[in-house]
Amino acid sequence: MKTIEINKEKCVRCGLCISDCLTSCIEFDKDNFPYMKNEENCISCEHCMTICPTGALSFNHKNPDESEPVNYYDILSLIKSRRSIRQYKDEEISAETFDKLKSMLSYVPTGCNAHSLHFSIVETKSAMDVIRNKVNENVLKALSYKALSPIADKFEKYKKGFEEGKDIIFRGAPHMIVASSSIKAPCALEDPVIALSYLELYAQHLGLGTCWCGFAEMCLKFFPEICDMLEIPSGYKPVYVMLLGIPAVKYQRTPQPEPFKFAEIKEIHQKDSCFFCKAKRLVTNFIR
Ligand SMILES: Cc1cc2nc3c(=O)[nH]c(=O)nc-3n(C[C@H](O)[C@H](O)[C@H](O)COP(=O)(O)O)c2cc1C
Repeated sequence: MKTIEINKEKCVRCGLCISDCLTSCIEFDKDNFPYMKNEENCISCEHCMTICPTGALSFNHKNPDESEPVNYYDILSLIKSRRSIRQYKDEEISAETFDKLKSMLSYVPTGCNAHSLHFSIVETKSAMDVIRNKVNENVLKALSYKALSPIADKFEKYKKGFEEGKDIIFRGAPHMIVASSSIKAPCALEDPVIALSYLELYAQHLGLGTCWCGFAEMCLKFFPEICDMLEIPSGYKPVYVMLLGIPAVKYQRTPQPEPFKFAEIKEIHQKDSCFFCKAKRLVTNFIR
């Protein structure tokens, strides 16, 4: 059950919780207070609670006053304050800032120190628009002519948005970074993701906004001409995409996510697993 509760004395009815909701779960009620309309779409990201300027919104009974203030300077606070940004200013990032990001990237760890990464950095809005338009055009074609193409299947539920010209994939971001790795690299799938994780934190420390973009990653795989536009060298595989820009939104507090599962191992309890248990474990280990 996903709920939001509004403190009507504090709520200024600005609608930031509504405009920042990834899955459009929240709407205004008849008195212009936000309410949870589509609970089933909610992914518990808590953007609604963390963006509220007055601390009027509680997600799942969590008290917004128990969140920490946003802080992009101390490392732990930065990790807690990091958010996916989906609303960007119509401005480009400066060349000096790009230089800072690029020089940081040389320090990221790679498996066996292979260092065989390639970054395609879309540094201008005009170049980004060419890619945005081409990808959106291809998705629209796939949606209208090739109902059976795997990409059409993935985007079917956003069809209306694409037809209305909404930037479902790139969220109006003025830049993006695509991390690719040599197919010969020992950790070809891990290295780019590690690099982008470092980049995300450093970028947010510098006041930038980022968003991992699985949708764009999918499109790169299906539309090889986009890889050419991004100058991805042959023998390199695009692994992940990060959107980048100057945020048009400001978060006030950190989320209060549910903890993961931990095995707190202080001593080893040896068990003799049966053949079937071992086989099941092996299958699980090698799935995907
Ligand atoms: C691997 C990965 C792929 C993602 N792909 C997308 C995407 O295609 N579009 C998008 O808007 N957000 C995407 N996200 C962002 C997640 O939706 C986001 O991390 C989640 O909602 C939690 O919000 P937060 O990052 O602000 O804490 C992606 C995140 C990850 C880690």
